[in-house]
Amino acid sequence: MSLQNKKLLLIIGGGISAYKALDLTRLLVKNNVEVKTILTKSGKEFVTPLSIMSLSNNKVFEDIFDVNNEKEIDHISLSRWADLVLVLPTTANMMSKLNLGKAEDLATTVILASNKDVLLVPAMNVRMWLHKATQNSLKNLLDFGYKFIGPVSGEMACGEYGEGKMSSPRQIFSYLKDYFNNRDLVKKKKFSAVVTTGPTREYIDPVRYMSNESSGKQGYEIALALSKLGVKTTLVAGPTSINFSKEMNVKNITSAEEMMIVVKKLLPADVVVCAAAVADFRPKKKEKNKIKKCNEAHSLLNLEKNTDILEYIGKSNKLKPKLLVGFSAETENLIGNSIRKLNQKYCDMIIANNISKKNTGFNVDYNKVLIIEKNGKILDLPRNKKSYIAAKIAKKIIDNLLINDQNTN
Ligand code: CTP
Repeated sequence: MSLQNKKLLLIIGGGISAYKALDLTRLLVKNNVEVKTILTKSGKEFVTPLSIMSLSNNKVFEDIFDVNNEKEIDHISLSRWADLVLVLPTTANMMSKLNLGKAEDLATTVILASNKDVLLVPAMNVRMWLHKATQNSLKNLLDFGYKFIGPVSGEMACGEYGEGKMSSPRQIFSYLKDYFNNRDLVKKKKFSAVVTTGPTREYIDPVRYMSNESSGKQGYEIALALSKLGVKTTLVAGPTSINFSKEMNVKNITSAEEMMIVVKKLLPADVVVCAAAVADFRPKKKEKNKIKKCNEAHSLLNLEKNTDILEYIGKSNKLKPKLLVGFSAETENLIGNSIRKLNQKYCDMIIANNISKKNTGFNVDYNKVLIIEKNGKILDLPRNKKSYIAAKIAKKIIDNLLINDQNTN
């Protein structure tokens, strides 16, 4: 019973579809979900507090400065109480406000202060939905971590046809069921993950090193996304300028050798994601003192190979996780070279990344990748923020882990 005793905070926005909130509330309550509601000022134009109260068996919150409900109504406790926040209907205006981070009434303040997932259920005219302003908001909201249910295509209340129609209460209900089902399952499984990220530095002398352009952002975002999904995650990071979240368990390393030692200590884990741009070579000898500009300096640089961490894990019977995910940074023959790496390093999945493009890949906030699986499936993720790409990769990882577990149990 995935929905049993779950707590849902339902925020009713101002649109003609608001009446569907009543149907959904009835469905949820019937399935033992506790529903508390915030009714926005414009939502009140479409549904009455009395009808919501009768269906939810709970009081309806409206005002941010409500003396009667002072304890319960403050923007922190309402979102802390909930397992999930659902905004229905989410209007174009609401999307724009959330994009700007506004906190101008109880609804927007609670959403901004929420530490739970916030699901937005858009409903608006097709032109409004497709307008660049709304689509820009959508991009940012996805990047902020909001999740969306719909919209779908269909005939609208205004008589026009197209994308923008709100998902039906049944569709929303089924989304919620899957959402809680997955979350509960992942929680129960207690999955663990190790993610490597960033460049490594291979020192030549005390002040000079060999390294690369990697910012570490994509790996960090994947670690964040996995943690959010309930996976106990450790990030092993080379030198980056990322301001890591305090909640993230981070092990900082400098060289490839150190990365290898730390990763080995953290294994076994259920999943390992090698997103680091590990230097392939290191100087055979690190000079104790700064190398002087003598004529022979250039001939001092003797290199040796670093161990390939991903390949080492892939080939190890003892350390191989249930799911091994590699990255493949390529400037040519992306698919061919990536599949070769996937096989060579015994990965289950490889994230192929074309690093020849200036606006995606290394050292930028955007990425465009292919997720290639061992079974030949390829998922093309168009250019988007690294946080969005990470959420997709994390979802794929969890789906695979759950399928693996089902097959082995
Ligand atoms: N990798 C690793 N340890 C290394 C080198 C690479 O764990 N010493 C991992 C990376 O984290 C990535 C994958 O191997 O997941 C592929 O790295 P990439 O740099 O794309 O390829 P290489 O194997 O180094 O091959 P090449 O440089 O020839 O493309």
